[in-house]
Amino acid sequence: MKTVKKFLQMKKQQEPIVMVTAYDYPSGKYVEAAGADLILTGDSLGMVVLGYADTLQVTLEDMIHHARATRRGAPDTFIIADMPHMSYHISIKQTRINAGRLFKEGAVNAVKLEGGKPSRLEAIKAITDCEIPVCAHLGLTPQSIHTMGGYVVQGKEEKGYQAILQQAMDIEDAGAFMLVLEGIPEKLGKEISDKLCIPTIGIGAGRYTDGQVLVYHDILGMSDFKPKFVKQYSNLKSDIVKSLETWKMEVKERIFPSKENIYLPLDQ
Ligand code: KIV
Repeated sequence: MKTVKKFLQMKKQQEPIVMVTAYDYPSGKYVEAAGADLILTGDSLGMVVLGYADTLQVTLEDMIHHARATRRGAPDTFIIADMPHMSYHISIKQTRINAGRLFKEGAVNAVKLEGGKPSRLEAIKAITDCEIPVCAHLGLTPQSIHTMGGYVVQGKEEKGYQAILQQAMDIEDAGAFMLVLEGIPEKLGKEISDKLCIPTIGIGAGRYTDGQVLVYHDILGMSDFKPKFVKQYSNLKSDIVKSLETWKMEVKERIFPSKENIYLPLDQ
């Protein structure tokens, strides 16, 4: 399993870091088999696995449940799990308790939280103080959709650009070991990645971050929509529906089960 130290080394050696989301035993197993450097059990599971409209309804119990299943599928891969909305917002004490539960009960190697304002920096420091590595997340942070006014690219104007740049530097100082950059201009992704010592992982942040992350269901063509930054490598949604339709047709036509699918056929 790769370590926090290894990810730093990969950045220094300019080796791109590959992160993929996984949410359960099969996705964890396939992502590990593909040799990804690390897994993110993201709260995007609220949308792609649980069918919610956004990530805001995801609970700590949901995250623990899915992180544990992912770990069973990927015993040898570094896993980061998302701290869900309101699990690190109330108090530092509650933040430590929740991060500890996700880390221990979810059997993950690190946790991720969104944002870079002073209260988030305090959360990063408190969790790191518990010897739990923290990955931060800036730019288009999905837990803030209502305050951001939707899923909109962040840092396009100078003021926002400078604010994200400053938050990235503050996050490194607060002790985060990695930073996810989502939905920002390529120039900002490059400038942050050049300035920071910790690795940056981009999603919709252009070509110059130290690594890339995509959602498992987006890569495989199983999502309901395809954002611009996604490249789809399979069309599993249509493969799955076709397979199920074929099986349905074979049952209706009495093609299935055939002799090879029967333990003791009547006419043997
Ligand atoms: O929840 C998630 O999957 C994420 C990635 C999109 C970075 O935060």
